[in-house]
Amino acid sequence: MTTKMVKRGMVAVILAATAVGAGCTPKKTEPVTMSDIADGTIDPAVWGKVYPAEYERWQKNGEPTPAGKSKYKRGYDEGMARPDKLNEFPFLALLYNGWGFGVEYREPRGHIFMLQDQLEVDPSRIKAGGSCLTCKTPYAPILQGKMGRDYFAEPYLDVLAKVPGEHRTLGVACIDCHNNRDMSLQISRGFTLGKGLAELGVAGGQLTRQDKRSLVCAQCHVTYSVPKDTQMKSTDVVFPWQGSSWGHITIEQIIKVLREHPEYGEWTQKVTGFKLAFIRHPEFELFSNDSVHWQAGATCSDCHMPTIKVGGREIADHRIMSPLKNDLQACRQCHTESPDQLRDRVIAIQDRTMSQFIRAGYATATVAKLFELANREQTAGKPVDRTLYAEAKDHYLEAFYRVVFIGAENSVGFHNPTEAQRVLGDAAIHAGKADGLLRQALAKAGVTVPEKVDLELAKYVNNRGSKKLMFKPEQEIKDPLAGK
Ligand code: HEC
Ligand code: HEC
Ligand code: HEC
Ligand code: HEC
Repeated sequence: MTTKMVKRGMVAVILAATAVGAGCTPKKTEPVTMSDIADGTIDPAVWGKVYPAEYERWQKNGEPTPAGKSKYKRGYDEGMARPDKLNEFPFLALLYNGWGFGVEYREPRGHIFMLQDQLEVDPSRIKAGGSCLTCKTPYAPILQGKMGRDYFAEPYLDVLAKVPGEHRTLGVACIDCHNNRDMSLQISRGFTLGKGLAELGVAGGQLTRQDKRSLVCAQCHVTYSVPKDTQMKSTDVVFPWQGSSWGHITIEQIIKVLREHPEYGEWTQKVTGFKLAFIRHPEFELFSNDSVHWQAGATCSDCHMPTIKVGGREIADHRIMSPLKNDLQACRQCHTESPDQLRDRVIAIQDRTMSQFIRAGYATATVAKLFELANREQTAGKPVDRTLYAEAKDHYLEAFYRVVFIGAENSVGFHNPTEAQRVLGDAAIHAGKADGLLRQALAKAGVTVPEKVDLELAKYVNNRGSKKLMFKPEQEIKDPLAGK
């Protein structure tokens, strides 16, 4: 479809009051075909000699982002402290107490920082070993190929030491997304995403250029598990996509896989004593699960790498960030609303998601505290009904993983608003059921439970980890729809 046709299509749609050219094909810059970059070149500066415009924008991923434009994503806004999700959502400090994510869990920032941020974060976050480098260094595929299974288990710093000194803090590089010979898009992490795609029944050869405009991002912006052996040593990095299909990786199926595999139990939740799995940044999963924009044929790159003009040439913007922070340039290829109108619509979606997330989160944290009480009473000899306890646990796990899923997904619901609402609605229902069942079990055992359970949040948000991190109340995000 030509640009002209898309434009004409949009006018027609404006009249139909949707302001969107349904199914419009966004304009993409053509990849350049010649290249002087030797095979295996990792240093982006060398690629930058051939493609200076893209390189210059890529380097900007190391600069702070404009403040005051995004309501919820302020990972590295000019003049602001970097928010920690545990300050933003104190109930997460309770739920994640027992491992690294409950110690320090910063909001994401630009691609340049990924390795540096790992070196600065509380050391409990990199305990899984070399596995943690998988979506952080362009050397990951080489290291994994050379070291095999040891790559996953050996201590993080030992594996990092095998990266050439000058590249030990190098984040996402050109080679992560591009073939050096013709600059076409390429998946460099066959050992993770390649296996994941096979689970979905997709063979590498079937992928179109448009698919790859999302999949280069899905090498990292997906959830994964780090399976453990009996000594709790990491053995692999896997995506829990078994039983799912392309365009339908559902939360139900992810939870089923996590619960069916005891080896995906990576940590023990202190409050409940349960061994649990975890869910990380599932941007691809939420977005590709039949969202409006997935159906419209949009890709991650369409919204996060808009076409810009540099020196008279059109390029894909390699400064990758929140679309709200560059005034929604990317949306203009399909939408005709003003940037302010679009921003209001994004924030309205995010407010609803945020509100439900906070409510479901507190409900789930309350259940965790009820389990703590039930466990304590049981140890003290009180006869807590096993069946009720087991049923409550079942509902609790369903609620917990849903809260983790939306809490780890970085768009605050925007990538798939209706699905995010559904997932959080179900989380609240499961938490409510678990709450009722546990109260019943406790009453039967002769234990009185107060109507309002004290979450003792101060215990979890303060003195975290080796840095003794304290709660920063100014970072807390309150229910934007409180009282509604
Ligand atoms: C090799 C792994 C990897 C790939 C590939 C990757 N990302 Fe990221 N991305 C990350 C990590 C890790 C962070 C967080 C870095 C930090 O906070 O230190 C991040 C951060 C981001 C952010 C937040 C930036 C900010 O200013 O806060 C956006 C947006 C983003 N990525 C989008 C994308 C898109 C779109 C693609 C594909 C075109 C992509 N990423 C490809 C790993 C990756
Ligand atoms: C239709 C446009 C659109 C598509 C498609 C899209 N995103 Fe986003 N993305 C957004 C918006 C809008 C936000 C919210 C930004 C904010 O609140 O500041 C966002 C937020 C993010 C963030 C958090 C940014 C930050 O500053 O912390 C990441 C990471 C991200 N998206 C990655 C992806 C990935 C990966 C894909 C593909 C799987 C994708 N996005 C697809 C529009 C899009
Ligand atoms: C996170 C993935 C990612 C990384 C890292 C990345 N690119 Fe790209 N690049 C893309 C995407 C997506 C496109 C659009 C390609 C398409 O539509 O076929 C693109 C397009 C290009 C193009 C074609 C012209 C254009 O701008 O559209 C060139 C040249 C290019 N990139 C150079 C580079 C260089 C040089 C680096 C490293 C400094 C780099 N890229 C890093 C994802 C990436
Ligand atoms: C590839 C084209 C395309 C791009 C790029 C795109 N959109 Fe859309 N958008 C659509 C289509 C098509 C719809 C569905 C319209 C409908 O059903 O009325 C839609 C719907 C929406 C909706 C309605 C809410 C929903 O999800 O149901 C919002 C809000 C929205 N887009 C915001 C954005 C923003 C913000 C950006 C840029 C970050 C963006 N869009 C980029 C095509 C696009």
